[in-house]
Amino acid sequence: MRACSRTAAGVERCWTGIASRPAALCLCSFLTSLGIAAAHAATSTDRAKIVGPNACAECHKQETVAWKGSHHFKTFREMPRSAEANKIGDRMGIKRIKSDTLCLNCHFTVQIKNAGEVPVAGISCESCHSAGQDWIKVHSGFSGKTILFESKAEAKARWQLAESKGMIRARSFYLLAKNCYGCHVVPEEELVNKGGHKAGSAFELVSWSQGEVRHNTWYSKGRENVQASTERMRMLYLVGLGVELETALRAVGKSTVRKVYAFEMAKRADQARKQLAIAAKAAPNVPEIAKIVELGHSAGLKLNNGPALTAAADGVSKLLVGITEKYDGSTMAGLDNLIPAPGKFKGTTIKPGS
Ligand code: HEC
Ligand code: HEC
Ligand code: HEC
Ligand code: HEC
Repeated sequence: MRACSRTAAGVERCWTGIASRPAALCLCSFLTSLGIAAAHAATSTDRAKIVGPNACAECHKQETVAWKGSHHFKTFREMPRSAEANKIGDRMGIKRIKSDTLCLNCHFTVQIKNAGEVPVAGISCESCHSAGQDWIKVHSGFSGKTILFESKAEAKARWQLAESKGMIRARSFYLLAKNCYGCHVVPEEELVNKGGHKAGSAFELVSWSQGEVRHNTWYSKGRENVQASTERMRMLYLVGLGVELETALRAVGKSTVRKVYAFEMAKRADQARKQLAIAAKAAPNVPEIAKIVELGHSAGLKLNNGPALTAAADGVSKLLVGITEKYDGSTMAGLDNLIPAPGKFKGTTIKPGS
Protein backbone atom coordinates (compact mmCIF):
# COMPACT_ATOMS: atom_id res chain seq x y z
CA MET A 1 0.00 0.00 0.00
CA ARG A 2 1.21 3.50 -0.72
CA ALA A 3 2.19 5.54 2.25
CA CYS A 4 0.86 8.83 0.99
CA SER A 5 -1.65 10.08 -1.50
CA ARG A 6 -1.76 13.39 -3.22
CA THR A 7 -4.81 15.41 -3.91
CA ALA A 8 -5.72 18.43 -5.83
CA ALA A 9 -5.49 20.25 -2.54
CA GLY A 10 -1.78 19.76 -2.91
CA VAL A 11 -1.67 18.29 0.54
CA GLU A 12 0.16 15.12 1.28
CA ARG A 13 -2.16 12.61 2.86
CA CYS A 14 -0.30 9.89 4.66
CA TRP A 15 -2.02 7.15 6.58
CA THR A 16 0.65 4.68 7.49
CA GLY A 17 3.82 6.05 8.93
CA ILE A 18 4.12 6.77 12.60
CA ALA A 19 2.88 3.93 14.74
CA SER A 20 1.28 6.08 17.30
CA ARG A 21 0.83 5.38 20.93
CA PRO A 22 -1.75 7.74 22.28
CA ALA A 23 -0.05 10.46 24.21
CA ALA A 24 -0.92 10.69 27.87
CA LEU A 25 -4.44 11.94 28.38
CA CYS A 26 -4.27 15.66 28.24
CA LEU A 27 -6.60 17.99 30.04
CA CYS A 28 -4.56 20.97 29.01
CA SER A 29 -6.54 24.15 28.75
CA PHE A 30 -7.76 25.10 25.36
CA LEU A 31 -5.38 27.04 23.12
CA THR A 32 -2.88 28.28 25.60
CA SER A 33 0.70 27.63 24.61
CA LEU A 34 2.79 29.88 22.42
CA GLY A 35 5.56 29.31 19.93
CA ILE A 36 5.80 27.84 16.47
CA ALA A 37 3.80 24.82 15.35
CA ALA A 38 5.40 22.13 13.29
CA ALA A 39 4.22 22.97 9.81
CA HIS A 40 2.53 19.98 8.24
CA ALA A 41 4.46 18.99 5.16
CA ALA A 42 2.59 19.67 1.94
CA THR A 43 3.58 18.34 -1.44
CA SER A 44 2.38 19.63 -4.74
CA THR A 45 -0.19 17.71 -6.72
CA ASP A 46 1.42 15.99 -9.61
CA ARG A 47 0.20 18.46 -12.16
CA ALA A 48 2.34 16.86 -14.83
CA LYS A 49 0.06 13.81 -14.61
CA ILE A 50 -3.29 15.56 -14.89
CA VAL A 51 -5.04 14.65 -18.15
CA GLY A 52 -8.02 16.98 -17.64
CA PRO A 53 -11.75 16.22 -17.54
CA ASN A 54 -12.18 16.18 -21.33
CA ALA A 55 -10.03 13.06 -21.48
CA CYS A 56 -12.39 11.31 -19.03
CA ALA A 57 -15.48 12.64 -20.79
CA GLU A 58 -14.63 10.71 -23.94
CA CYS A 59 -15.94 7.58 -22.25
CA HIS A 60 -17.70 8.93 -19.16
CA LYS A 61 -20.42 11.01 -20.77
CA GLN A 62 -23.12 10.79 -18.09
CA GLU A 63 -20.68 11.31 -15.22
CA THR A 64 -19.50 14.43 -17.00
CA VAL A 65 -23.05 15.72 -17.41
CA ALA A 66 -23.60 15.31 -13.66
CA TRP A 67 -20.33 17.04 -12.84
CA LYS A 68 -21.22 19.97 -15.08
CA GLY A 69 -24.29 20.57 -12.94
CA SER A 70 -22.25 20.96 -9.76
CA HIS A 71 -20.60 23.86 -7.95
CA HIS A 72 -17.31 22.03 -8.52
CA PHE A 73 -17.66 22.75 -12.23
CA LYS A 74 -19.06 26.26 -11.96
CA THR A 75 -16.43 27.59 -9.58
CA PHE A 76 -13.97 27.76 -12.50
CA ARG A 77 -15.80 30.64 -14.08
CA GLU A 78 -17.65 32.13 -11.14
CA MET A 79 -15.25 32.24 -8.23
CA PRO A 80 -12.54 34.50 -9.70
CA ARG A 81 -15.23 37.02 -10.68
CA SER A 82 -16.89 37.20 -7.29
CA ALA A 83 -16.47 40.24 -5.09
CA GLU A 84 -15.74 38.00 -2.11
CA ALA A 85 -12.85 36.35 -3.98
CA ASN A 86 -11.34 39.68 -4.82
CA LYS A 87 -11.58 40.81 -1.22
CA ILE A 88 -9.81 37.66 -0.07
CA GLY A 89 -7.21 38.22 -2.78
CA ASP A 90 -6.64 41.81 -1.69
CA ARG A 91 -6.20 40.89 1.94
CA MET A 92 -3.74 38.15 0.97
CA GLY A 93 -1.85 40.41 -1.43
CA ILE A 94 -2.76 38.24 -4.41
CA LYS A 95 -3.05 39.97 -7.77
CA ARG A 96 -4.42 37.22 -9.94
CA ILE A 97 -6.49 34.50 -8.34
CA LYS A 98 -6.13 32.12 -11.27
CA SER A 99 -2.37 32.12 -10.92
CA ASP A 100 -2.10 31.89 -7.16
CA THR A 101 -1.00 28.46 -5.96
CA LEU A 102 -3.15 28.55 -2.85
CA CYS A 103 -6.39 29.27 -4.68
CA LEU A 104 -5.46 26.87 -7.48
CA ASN A 105 -4.97 24.04 -5.01
CA CYS A 106 -8.60 23.88 -3.95
CA HIS A 107 -10.62 25.63 -6.64
CA PHE A 108 -9.07 24.44 -9.88
CA THR A 109 -7.64 21.54 -11.83
CA VAL A 110 -4.22 22.54 -13.07
CA GLN A 111 -2.43 20.97 -16.01
CA ILE A 112 1.07 21.54 -17.36
CA LYS A 113 0.84 22.85 -20.89
CA ASN A 114 3.84 24.11 -22.86
CA ALA A 115 5.87 24.01 -19.65
CA GLY A 116 3.41 26.38 -17.94
CA GLU A 117 0.77 25.64 -15.31
CA VAL A 118 -2.69 26.22 -16.71
CA PRO A 119 -5.95 25.99 -14.77
CA VAL A 120 -8.12 23.92 -17.11
CA ALA A 121 -11.25 23.36 -14.99
CA GLY A 122 -12.76 23.75 -11.56
CA ILE A 123 -12.69 20.83 -9.15
CA SER A 124 -12.86 17.92 -11.57
CA CYS A 125 -12.64 14.13 -11.94
CA GLU A 126 -9.00 13.94 -11.00
CA SER A 127 -9.43 16.17 -7.93
CA CYS A 128 -11.22 13.18 -6.41
CA HIS A 129 -10.06 10.12 -8.39
CA SER A 130 -6.42 11.34 -8.63
CA ALA A 131 -4.25 12.42 -11.56
CA GLY A 132 -4.98 10.04 -14.39
CA GLN A 133 -2.01 9.78 -16.71
CA ASP A 134 -0.54 6.61 -15.23
CA TRP A 135 -3.80 4.71 -14.82
CA ILE A 136 -6.27 5.99 -17.42
CA LYS A 137 -5.37 3.37 -20.04
CA VAL A 138 -4.94 0.59 -17.50
CA HIS A 139 -8.33 0.94 -15.80
CA SER A 140 -10.30 0.95 -19.03
CA GLY A 141 -8.20 -1.48 -21.05
CA PHE A 142 -9.77 -4.84 -20.07
CA SER A 143 -6.26 -6.30 -19.94
CA GLY A 144 -5.79 -5.76 -23.66
CA LYS A 145 -8.88 -7.86 -24.48
CA THR A 146 -12.55 -7.09 -24.92
CA ILE A 147 -14.79 -7.05 -21.89
CA LEU A 148 -16.16 -10.52 -22.67
CA PHE A 149 -12.80 -12.20 -22.93
CA GLU A 150 -11.11 -10.77 -19.87
CA SER A 151 -11.05 -13.37 -17.10
CA LYS A 152 -12.02 -12.54 -13.52
CA ALA A 153 -8.42 -12.92 -12.42
CA GLU A 154 -7.29 -10.55 -15.15
CA ALA A 155 -9.91 -7.98 -14.19
CA LYS A 156 -8.79 -8.16 -10.57
CA ALA A 157 -5.16 -7.70 -11.59
CA ARG A 158 -6.14 -4.76 -13.81
CA TRP A 159 -7.88 -2.94 -10.98
CA GLN A 160 -4.97 -3.66 -8.66
CA LEU A 161 -2.58 -2.22 -11.19
CA ALA A 162 -4.74 0.88 -11.70
CA GLU A 163 -4.88 1.44 -7.95
CA SER A 164 -1.15 0.92 -7.57
CA LYS A 165 -0.74 3.68 -10.13
CA GLY A 166 -2.82 6.02 -8.02
CA MET A 167 -6.41 5.57 -9.17
CA ILE A 168 -8.92 6.22 -6.42
CA ARG A 169 -11.93 4.01 -7.05
CA ALA A 170 -15.45 4.34 -5.75
CA ARG A 171 -14.74 1.63 -3.18
CA SER A 172 -11.82 3.55 -1.65
CA PHE A 173 -13.89 5.28 1.00
CA TYR A 174 -10.93 6.48 2.96
CA LEU A 175 -9.01 8.06 0.10
CA LEU A 176 -12.10 9.68 -1.37
CA ALA A 177 -13.01 11.15 1.99
CA LYS A 178 -9.48 12.44 2.52
CA ASN A 179 -9.80 14.44 -0.66
CA CYS A 180 -13.15 15.99 0.25
CA TYR A 181 -12.11 16.99 3.76
CA GLY A 182 -8.66 18.13 2.64
CA CYS A 183 -10.40 20.94 0.80
CA HIS A 184 -13.61 21.39 2.77
CA VAL A 185 -12.02 21.80 6.21
CA VAL A 186 -9.86 24.59 4.72
CA PRO A 187 -6.81 23.78 6.84
CA GLU A 188 -4.99 27.02 5.99
CA GLU A 189 -4.35 29.36 8.90
CA GLU A 190 -3.31 32.49 7.03
CA LEU A 191 -6.03 32.15 4.40
CA VAL A 192 -8.64 32.12 7.14
CA ASN A 193 -7.16 34.61 9.61
CA LYS A 194 -5.74 37.14 7.20
CA GLY A 195 -7.67 36.44 4.01
CA GLY A 196 -11.03 36.12 5.75
CA HIS A 197 -11.78 32.93 3.81
CA LYS A 198 -14.54 30.75 5.22
CA ALA A 199 -13.09 28.41 7.85
CA GLY A 200 -14.47 25.28 6.26
CA SER A 201 -17.84 23.86 5.21
CA ALA A 202 -20.54 22.25 7.34
CA PHE A 203 -19.54 19.08 5.57
CA GLU A 204 -20.89 15.56 6.10
CA LEU A 205 -19.93 12.86 3.63
CA VAL A 206 -23.27 11.15 2.94
CA SER A 207 -25.33 14.29 2.48
CA TRP A 208 -22.63 16.11 0.54
CA SER A 209 -21.86 13.21 -1.82
CA GLN A 210 -25.41 12.06 -2.57
CA GLY A 211 -26.87 15.35 -3.81
CA GLU A 212 -25.44 17.41 -6.67
CA VAL A 213 -22.10 15.58 -6.55
CA ARG A 214 -23.66 12.16 -7.16
CA HIS A 215 -22.76 10.57 -10.51
CA ASN A 216 -23.39 6.85 -10.02
CA THR A 217 -24.38 6.44 -13.63
CA TRP A 218 -21.69 4.17 -15.05
CA TYR A 219 -22.75 0.73 -13.89
CA SER A 220 -26.37 1.37 -14.87
CA LYS A 221 -25.03 2.26 -18.35
CA GLY A 222 -26.17 5.82 -17.97
CA ARG A 223 -29.80 4.90 -17.25
CA GLU A 224 -29.98 6.06 -13.65
CA ASN A 225 -27.99 8.03 -11.14
CA VAL A 226 -28.40 5.58 -8.28
CA GLN A 227 -28.10 6.49 -4.63
CA ALA A 228 -25.35 4.69 -2.72
CA SER A 229 -26.62 1.44 -1.17
CA THR A 230 -27.54 1.30 2.52
CA GLU A 231 -24.29 -0.53 3.34
CA ARG A 232 -22.28 2.02 1.37
CA MET A 233 -23.95 4.93 3.12
CA ARG A 234 -23.00 3.48 6.51
CA MET A 235 -19.38 3.23 5.41
CA LEU A 236 -19.44 6.73 3.94
CA TYR A 237 -20.96 8.10 7.13
CA LEU A 238 -18.50 6.44 9.49
CA VAL A 239 -15.37 6.94 7.43
CA GLY A 240 -16.43 10.52 6.72
CA LEU A 241 -16.71 11.31 10.43
CA GLY A 242 -13.37 9.67 11.11
CA VAL A 243 -11.62 11.59 8.35
CA GLU A 244 -13.25 14.78 9.61
CA LEU A 245 -11.65 14.16 13.00
CA GLU A 246 -8.31 13.24 11.44
CA THR A 247 -8.24 16.32 9.23
CA ALA A 248 -9.33 18.63 12.03
CA LEU A 249 -6.67 17.28 14.41
CA ARG A 250 -4.00 17.96 11.80
CA ALA A 251 -5.49 21.39 11.16
CA VAL A 252 -5.42 22.32 14.86
CA GLY A 253 -1.83 21.07 14.89
CA LYS A 254 -0.97 23.76 12.36
CA SER A 255 -2.46 26.58 14.42
CA THR A 256 -0.09 29.14 15.83
CA VAL A 257 -2.23 32.12 16.90
CA ARG A 258 -5.38 32.60 18.97
CA LYS A 259 -7.59 33.64 16.12
CA VAL A 260 -10.58 32.41 14.15
CA TYR A 261 -8.71 29.55 12.48
CA ALA A 262 -7.57 27.92 15.71
CA PHE A 263 -11.02 28.20 17.29
CA GLU A 264 -12.89 26.90 14.26
CA MET A 265 -10.57 23.94 13.74
CA ALA A 266 -10.65 23.01 17.42
CA LYS A 267 -14.44 23.28 17.44
CA ARG A 268 -14.53 21.02 14.42
CA ALA A 269 -12.33 18.37 16.02
CA ASP A 270 -14.41 18.49 19.18
CA GLN A 271 -17.69 18.12 17.29
CA ALA A 272 -16.29 15.22 15.26
CA ARG A 273 -15.26 13.32 18.37
CA LYS A 274 -18.67 13.91 19.95
CA GLN A 275 -20.41 12.57 16.83
CA LEU A 276 -18.08 9.60 16.81
CA ALA A 277 -18.83 8.90 20.46
CA ILE A 278 -22.52 8.72 19.54
CA ALA A 279 -21.68 6.40 16.63
CA ALA A 280 -19.58 4.20 18.94
CA LYS A 281 -22.62 3.70 21.18
CA ALA A 282 -24.90 3.07 18.22
CA ALA A 283 -22.61 0.44 16.71
CA PRO A 284 -20.87 -1.27 19.65
CA ASN A 285 -19.99 -4.19 17.39
CA VAL A 286 -17.47 -1.92 15.68
CA PRO A 287 -15.03 -1.48 18.59
CA GLU A 288 -12.65 0.58 16.45
CA ILE A 289 -14.96 3.60 16.73
CA ALA A 290 -14.43 3.88 20.48
CA LYS A 291 -10.69 3.64 19.91
CA ILE A 292 -10.89 6.52 17.45
CA VAL A 293 -12.74 8.60 20.03
CA GLU A 294 -10.07 7.80 22.59
CA LEU A 295 -7.34 8.91 20.19
CA GLY A 296 -9.30 12.06 19.48
CA HIS A 297 -8.92 12.93 23.16
CA SER A 298 -5.27 11.93 23.39
CA ALA A 299 -3.81 15.28 22.35
CA GLY A 300 -4.82 18.73 23.58
CA LEU A 301 -6.73 20.94 21.15
CA LYS A 302 -4.38 23.86 21.67
CA LEU A 303 -1.90 26.02 19.82
CA ASN A 304 1.48 24.73 18.82
CA ASN A 305 0.73 21.13 19.67
CA GLY A 306 1.59 19.79 16.23
CA PRO A 307 3.53 16.64 17.06
CA ALA A 308 0.98 15.24 19.55
CA LEU A 309 -1.98 16.12 17.34
CA THR A 310 -0.30 14.64 14.28
CA ALA A 311 0.42 11.44 16.17
CA ALA A 312 -3.23 11.24 17.21
CA ALA A 313 -4.33 11.89 13.60
CA ASP A 314 -1.98 9.18 12.33
CA GLY A 315 -3.53 6.76 14.79
CA VAL A 316 -7.04 7.67 13.68
CA SER A 317 -5.95 7.20 10.10
CA LYS A 318 -4.67 3.68 10.74
CA LEU A 319 -7.89 2.66 12.45
CA LEU A 320 -9.94 4.05 9.56
CA VAL A 321 -7.95 2.13 6.98
CA GLY A 322 -8.45 -0.95 9.15
CA ILE A 323 -12.21 -0.34 9.20
CA THR A 324 -12.36 -0.12 5.40
CA GLU A 325 -10.47 -3.40 5.11
CA LYS A 326 -12.51 -5.29 7.70
CA TYR A 327 -16.09 -4.10 7.21
CA ASP A 328 -18.49 -3.58 4.32
CA GLY A 329 -21.25 -1.82 6.24
CA SER A 330 -23.57 -4.84 6.41
CA THR A 331 -23.16 -5.14 10.19
CA MET A 332 -23.57 -1.43 10.90
CA ALA A 333 -27.35 -1.07 10.96
CA GLY A 334 -26.93 0.68 14.31
CA LEU A 335 -25.75 3.76 12.43
CA ASP A 336 -28.87 4.06 10.26
CA ASN A 337 -30.67 6.50 12.55
CA LEU A 338 -27.67 8.84 12.49
CA ILE A 339 -27.33 9.00 8.72
CA PRO A 340 -28.87 12.08 7.06
CA ALA A 341 -32.08 11.36 5.14
CA PRO A 342 -32.41 12.19 1.42
CA GLY A 343 -34.12 15.49 2.27
CA LYS A 344 -30.77 16.64 3.68
CA PHE A 345 -28.75 15.85 0.56
CA LYS A 346 -26.84 18.89 -0.61
CA GLY A 347 -27.98 20.28 -3.95
CA THR A 348 -29.97 18.70 -6.74
CA THR A 349 -29.00 15.31 -8.11
CA ILE A 350 -28.68 15.34 -11.89
CA LYS A 351 -30.88 12.76 -13.59
CA PRO A 352 -29.61 11.14 -16.80
CA GLY A 353 -31.17 12.66 -19.86
CA SER A 354 -31.54 16.06 -18.23
C1 HEC B 1 -11.30 4.76 -22.98
C2 HEC B 1 -12.46 4.93 -22.13
C3 HEC B 1 -12.25 5.51 -20.73
C4 HEC B 1 -11.65 6.70 -20.39
C5 HEC B 1 -10.96 7.71 -21.31
C6 HEC B 1 -11.79 6.82 -18.95
N1 HEC B 1 -12.48 5.75 -18.45
FE1 HEC B 1 -12.99 5.42 -16.52
N2 HEC B 1 -13.80 3.63 -17.00
C7 HEC B 1 -13.82 3.08 -18.27
C8 HEC B 1 -14.33 1.72 -18.20
C9 HEC B 1 -14.50 0.78 -19.40
C10 HEC B 1 -14.62 1.47 -16.84
C11 HEC B 1 -15.21 0.20 -16.24
C12 HEC B 1 -14.26 -0.95 -16.30
C13 HEC B 1 -14.90 -2.22 -15.78
O1 HEC B 1 -16.12 -2.30 -15.71
O2 HEC B 1 -14.17 -3.14 -15.44
C14 HEC B 1 -14.30 2.71 -16.12
C15 HEC B 1 -14.50 2.87 -14.78
C16 HEC B 1 -14.17 4.03 -14.06
C17 HEC B 1 -14.43 4.24 -12.67
C18 HEC B 1 -15.17 3.31 -11.74
C19 HEC B 1 -14.20 2.48 -11.00
C20 HEC B 1 -14.84 1.61 -9.97
O3 HEC B 1 -14.67 1.92 -8.82
O4 HEC B 1 -15.48 0.62 -10.32
C21 HEC B 1 -13.95 5.48 -12.36
C22 HEC B 1 -13.96 6.16 -11.00
C23 HEC B 1 -13.39 6.03 -13.57
N3 HEC B 1 -13.54 5.13 -14.58
C24 HEC B 1 -12.80 7.29 -13.65
C25 HEC B 1 -12.22 7.80 -14.79
C26 HEC B 1 -11.54 9.07 -14.83
C27 HEC B 1 -11.38 10.03 -13.66
C28 HEC B 1 -11.09 9.23 -16.11
C29 HEC B 1 -10.24 10.38 -16.64
C30 HEC B 1 -8.98 10.61 -15.90
C31 HEC B 1 -11.51 8.07 -16.85
N4 HEC B 1 -12.17 7.22 -16.02
C32 HEC B 1 -11.29 7.88 -18.21
C33 HEC B 1 -13.45 3.71 -19.43
C34 HEC B 1 -12.77 4.92 -19.51
C1 HEC C 1 -7.89 24.38 1.45
C2 HEC C 1 -8.76 24.60 0.32
C3 HEC C 1 -9.06 26.01 -0.14
C4 HEC C 1 -8.16 27.00 -0.48
C5 HEC C 1 -6.65 26.94 -0.37
C6 HEC C 1 -8.95 28.10 -0.98
N1 HEC C 1 -10.27 27.80 -0.92
FE1 HEC C 1 -11.82 29.05 -1.36
N2 HEC C 1 -13.16 27.61 -0.77
C7 HEC C 1 -12.83 26.33 -0.38
C8 HEC C 1 -14.04 25.60 -0.09
C9 HEC C 1 -14.11 24.15 0.37
C10 HEC C 1 -15.12 26.48 -0.31
C11 HEC C 1 -16.60 26.18 -0.15
C12 HEC C 1 -17.02 26.57 1.22
C13 HEC C 1 -18.51 26.25 1.44
O1 HEC C 1 -18.85 25.17 1.85
O2 HEC C 1 -19.33 27.14 1.15
C14 HEC C 1 -14.52 27.75 -0.73
C15 HEC C 1 -15.25 28.90 -1.01
C16 HEC C 1 -14.70 30.05 -1.50
C17 HEC C 1 -15.47 31.23 -1.85
C18 HEC C 1 -16.98 31.39 -1.69
C19 HEC C 1 -17.72 30.60 -2.73
C20 HEC C 1 -17.40 31.03 -4.13
O3 HEC C 1 -16.82 30.18 -4.83
O4 HEC C 1 -17.68 32.17 -4.51
C21 HEC C 1 -14.58 32.15 -2.36
C22 HEC C 1 -14.88 33.53 -2.88
C23 HEC C 1 -13.25 31.57 -2.27
N3 HEC C 1 -13.37 30.28 -1.73
C24 HEC C 1 -12.09 32.18 -2.68
C25 HEC C 1 -10.81 31.67 -2.51
C26 HEC C 1 -9.60 32.36 -2.88
C27 HEC C 1 -9.54 33.72 -3.51
C28 HEC C 1 -8.56 31.54 -2.56
C29 HEC C 1 -7.08 31.81 -2.70
C30 HEC C 1 -6.59 32.97 -1.99
C31 HEC C 1 -9.13 30.33 -1.97
N4 HEC C 1 -10.49 30.44 -1.99
C32 HEC C 1 -8.40 29.28 -1.48
C33 HEC C 1 -11.56 25.81 -0.26
C34 HEC C 1 -10.39 26.52 -0.43
C1 HEC D 1 -16.01 15.71 -5.72
C2 HEC D 1 -15.31 14.49 -5.99
C3 HEC D 1 -15.56 13.80 -7.31
C4 HEC D 1 -15.50 14.34 -8.57
C5 HEC D 1 -15.22 15.78 -8.95
C6 HEC D 1 -15.75 13.26 -9.47
N1 HEC D 1 -15.95 12.09 -8.78
FE1 HEC D 1 -16.39 10.27 -9.54
N2 HEC D 1 -16.85 9.56 -7.69
C7 HEC D 1 -16.66 10.25 -6.52
C8 HEC D 1 -17.23 9.49 -5.42
C9 HEC D 1 -17.23 9.92 -3.96
C10 HEC D 1 -17.78 8.31 -5.98
C11 HEC D 1 -18.57 7.24 -5.22
C12 HEC D 1 -19.98 7.77 -5.08
C13 HEC D 1 -20.93 7.11 -4.11
O1 HEC D 1 -20.55 6.35 -3.24
O2 HEC D 1 -22.15 7.41 -4.19
C14 HEC D 1 -17.52 8.38 -7.42
C15 HEC D 1 -17.89 7.42 -8.35
C16 HEC D 1 -17.53 7.44 -9.69
C17 HEC D 1 -17.79 6.38 -10.64
C18 HEC D 1 -18.52 5.08 -10.36
C19 HEC D 1 -19.96 5.32 -10.78
C20 HEC D 1 -20.94 4.17 -10.62
O3 HEC D 1 -21.85 4.05 -11.47
O4 HEC D 1 -20.83 3.43 -9.63
C21 HEC D 1 -17.27 6.80 -11.84
C22 HEC D 1 -17.30 6.04 -13.15
C23 HEC D 1 -16.72 8.13 -11.65
N3 HEC D 1 -16.88 8.47 -10.33
C24 HEC D 1 -16.12 8.89 -12.64
C25 HEC D 1 -15.93 10.27 -12.55
C26 HEC D 1 -15.66 11.15 -13.67
C27 HEC D 1 -15.46 10.70 -15.09
C28 HEC D 1 -15.59 12.43 -13.16
C29 HEC D 1 -15.42 13.74 -13.92
C30 HEC D 1 -16.39 14.01 -14.97
C31 HEC D 1 -15.79 12.31 -11.73
N4 HEC D 1 -16.00 11.00 -11.40
C32 HEC D 1 -15.76 13.38 -10.84
C33 HEC D 1 -16.04 11.49 -6.40
C34 HEC D 1 -15.87 12.39 -7.45
C1 HEC E 1 -9.97 20.26 -4.62
C2 HEC E 1 -10.82 20.69 -3.53
C3 HEC E 1 -12.15 20.01 -3.33
C4 HEC E 1 -12.39 18.65 -3.24
C5 HEC E 1 -11.40 17.50 -3.35
C6 HEC E 1 -13.80 18.52 -2.98
N1 HEC E 1 -14.41 19.74 -2.96
FE1 HEC E 1 -16.39 20.10 -2.78
N2 HEC E 1 -16.07 22.08 -3.11
C7 HEC E 1 -14.84 22.68 -3.21
C8 HEC E 1 -15.02 24.10 -3.40
C9 HEC E 1 -13.90 25.12 -3.57
C10 HEC E 1 -16.41 24.34 -3.40
C11 HEC E 1 -17.11 25.69 -3.58
C12 HEC E 1 -17.33 25.92 -5.04
C13 HEC E 1 -18.07 27.21 -5.31
O1 HEC E 1 -19.25 27.30 -4.96
O2 HEC E 1 -17.45 28.10 -5.87
C14 HEC E 1 -17.04 23.04 -3.22
C15 HEC E 1 -18.41 22.84 -3.19
C16 HEC E 1 -19.03 21.63 -2.90
C17 HEC E 1 -20.46 21.42 -2.81
C18 HEC E 1 -21.53 22.49 -3.03
C19 HEC E 1 -21.69 23.22 -1.74
C20 HEC E 1 -22.75 24.26 -1.73
O3 HEC E 1 -22.56 25.24 -1.00
O4 HEC E 1 -23.79 24.12 -2.39
C21 HEC E 1 -20.65 20.10 -2.46
C22 HEC E 1 -21.98 19.41 -2.21
C23 HEC E 1 -19.35 19.48 -2.36
N3 HEC E 1 -18.40 20.43 -2.63
C24 HEC E 1 -19.13 18.16 -2.01
C25 HEC E 1 -17.89 17.52 -2.09
C26 HEC E 1 -17.67 16.10 -1.85
C27 HEC E 1 -18.73 15.11 -1.44
C28 HEC E 1 -16.35 15.87 -2.05
C29 HEC E 1 -15.59 14.57 -1.99
C30 HEC E 1 -16.21 13.41 -2.62
C31 HEC E 1 -15.74 17.14 -2.41
N4 HEC E 1 -16.70 18.12 -2.40
C32 HEC E 1 -14.41 17.29 -2.75
C33 HEC E 1 -13.63 22.06 -3.17
C34 HEC E 1 -13.43 20.68 -3.15
